[in-house]
This record gives sequence, C-alpha cells and structure tokens, in this order.
Amino acid sequence: MKLLVTGGAGFIGANFVIYWLNKYPKDEIINLDALTYAGNLENLKSVEENKNHKFVKGDILDSELVDKLVKEVDLIVHFAAESHVDRSILEPAAFLKTNILGTQVLLGAAVKYKKRFHHISTDEVFGSLDLDEVIRFNEKTCYDPHSPYSASKASSDHLVRAYADTYGLEITISNCSNNYGPFQFPEKLFPLFITNLIEGKKVPVYGDGKNIRDWLYVEDHCEAIDVIVKKGKIGETYCVGGEEEKNNMTITKTILKKMGKGDDSIEYVKDRPGHDLRYAIDISRIKDELGWEPKISFEEGVDNTIAWYKENELWWKNIKSGEYKDYYEDQYEKR
Ligand code: NAD
Ligand code: DAU
Repeated sequence: MKLLVTGGAGFIGANFVIYWLNKYPKDEIINLDALTYAGNLENLKSVEENKNHKFVKGDILDSELVDKLVKEVDLIVHFAAESHVDRSILEPAAFLKTNILGTQVLLGAAVKYKKRFHHISTDEVFGSLDLDEVIRFNEKTCYDPHSPYSASKASSDHLVRAYADTYGLEITISNCSNNYGPFQFPEKLFPLFITNLIEGKKVPVYGDGKNIRDWLYVEDHCEAIDVIVKKGKIGETYCVGGEEEKNNMTITKTILKKMGKGDDSIEYVKDRPGHDLRYAIDISRIKDELGWEPKISFEEGVDNTIAWYKENELWWKNIKSGEYKDYYEDQYEKR
C-alpha cells in the first residue's frame, strides 16, 4: 500500500510514519509537510535512509503539488494542521488557511482520484464539559467548538463529511484526546513543563489548574489510526482517548514528583481566554467494534516521555534557544 501522510514531520505525524514503516515495512509513504515552526526533519532521522519513505517539503494549500501526490497513492492520512490553541488565539488566520482550506484542497484531489481519506481530528470540536459532569464525548455529541483552533478543526470535520455525502468520497474521521510523548513541540503542557524543569525554570499553570483533559500516549494514538484505516467502517467517526482523565494540577504534580521538584517550581499565570474546562471521551465504539484500546499506562507513558526529553536535550534546546526564543520570553502574565 502507498500512503500520503500530511504533516508527517510534526509530533503525531512523525510518530505515525515511524510506527507505520516499522509495522508495514513493504508499504511506501510520501510525507508532505510544509515544515512550519512545528515541523522538524530531526523527528524523521530514524527513517531518513528508508527507501520507502519519501519526504516532500510543501504546503497542503498547493493544489498542483497535492494533485500530483494524491494521484500516486492509495490512502491519505491527514495530520497537517496548525495545532496549538494558544497560538490560534494570537493569530487565527493561519489556522483557517491550513486547517480548513488546506483540508479542502486535499479533499478535492481525493475526490478527483477516488482515494480513501482518513482525517485526524480532535475532541476539542465537542466543546467543554462541566468539571462535575459525568457525561463524556462520544461520536453522537454535537459540535460546540470554542477556540479558533477547535472551530477550524470542526469546520474541517464538517467538510470531510460533506465531501463523503456529496461526492461519495470514502472517508473515516478520528477525534482524539490530548496526546503526549516524544517529538512534541515544547509549547504544549507536557514538553514545556518537562523541559522547563530540566532548565531549572518554573512551570506556568494557567488559572487554578482545575481544567481536565484526557491523556493518550502518542504510540497508542498511532495504533488507533492503524486500526481505523484497516478495519473502520467507511463514512464513520471514531472517538479515541486514553481513559486517563486528569486535571492540570495532577499532571503538574506528577511531573514535579517524577523529576524531583517541589511546589515552589509552580508559577500560577493568567488563564487562557475561553479555556475549556473539561474534555472527556468515551471510547466504547472503537473498543467494541474495532477491538482497540490503549496499551500504555499513564505512569509508563509519563516515565517514557520524561526520559525522552532528558535523553534528547539537543532536540528541544535547539528549538527553545533558536528562532522561536521570543515565544518563551515574557509570554506569561502572573496571576
Ligand atoms: P504539530 O503542530 O506537532 O504538527 C503539525 C505538522 O503539520 C507540522 O509538521 C507542520 O509543519 C505541518 N503543517 C502545518 N501546516 C501545514 C501546511 N499548510 N501544509 C503542510 N504541512 C503543514 O501537530 P500535532 O500535535 O502532531 O497534531 C497533528 C494532528 O493531530 C492535527 O491535525 C491535530 O489537530 C490533531 N490532534 C492533535 C492532538 C494533540 O494532542 N497534539 C490531539 C488530537 C488531534
Ligand atoms: O484535546 C486534544 C487537543 O489537545 C489537540 O487537539 C491540540 O492540538 C493539543 O494542542 C491539545 O490542546 P490543549 O489546549 O488541551 O493542550 P495544551 O498542552 O496546550 O494544554 C493542556 C492543558 O494545560 C490546558 O488545560 C491548558 C493547560 N496549560 C497549557 C500550557 C501550554 C497550562 O496550564 N500551562 C501551559 O503553559
């Protein structure tokens, strides 16, 4: 099988490319990535020499390039996106361009060449639950996005379904919860906190730290996508998560403890505007219908992640001290 993976130099995309070539060594992957601030060829070092991996630097908005690549493959797995909520609050335009218009360019080519399309999406499209609610998001939950990021992802999900209904495109969608693990850009909670602590800095907790997310180790997400692509029902959506709901204080204290630091390393900073309170995801459907469930426990996942950032200091130090240095300076207002 030949795949077009978009965004395969980013966090989840790179983990997926490595996972797939390891599991299906005869398959070929064309990896289309614009190498925005979040894309990094260092993430793909382990498949650099692999003849079945071809990296193409390019934008999913480039319809000529996309047309040429989609024609060559059997399946498109679409990760490419602007993915960070805080950046979407500061500069929404890039999110609308890549996440909505870029997805539309890919869908157009997929329809033209009748190619199977798997769309990677997020649980954030479902909005925010109250902290004390017992319900969780599932495939029937109505969309209610709040940030420019989640609104752009919701829009792309709707487009994918519209192309299935209107043009008969063979699609599947996965809506996944928060991922953590190797190669995550050090702007998100886990990598930012771990690398700050290695550097002897404090960790910025937004608001009161009571917001809840569901956490999934990235390799488990890659396996869920594999299962959906191979066994999922065409036209359907699958919710994916780790069944590990934790509030941000619990995550922070877990990381602090495992890294031998105390509460004096916490800095409470101004809350994220429109900060969603709680995401929780019901994975019954993918469990019951496709037999997938997470394999890596939270404890193991956190240990692996801390170990990876300790062993790969050059990877994140280059990011934090280089071109994106300004992002790490003076960005937080104390509460
Ligand atoms: P990321 O920001 O680490 O990587 C995104 C990649 O897309 C980068 O390599 C970037 O260069 C590339 N890209 C961006 N714009 C592009 C464009 N116009 N053309 C080509 N490439 C472009 O993101 P991630 O965390 O790996 O997320 C990947 C996907 O998974 C996204 O669609 C995101 O919405 C979704 N998702 C992420 C999470 C999470 O916790 N990180 C959870 C659920 C869903
Ligand atoms: O739920 C899936 C989503 O998870 C993905 O679709 C997004 O691409 C991904 O970025 C992630 O979004 P979040 O906003 O939940 O992730 P982030 O790591 O930015 O924040 C996690 C929680 O931690 C959130 O409640 C905000 C809080 N936080 C985050 C940062 C970066 C802090 O308290 N301090 C911080 O410095």
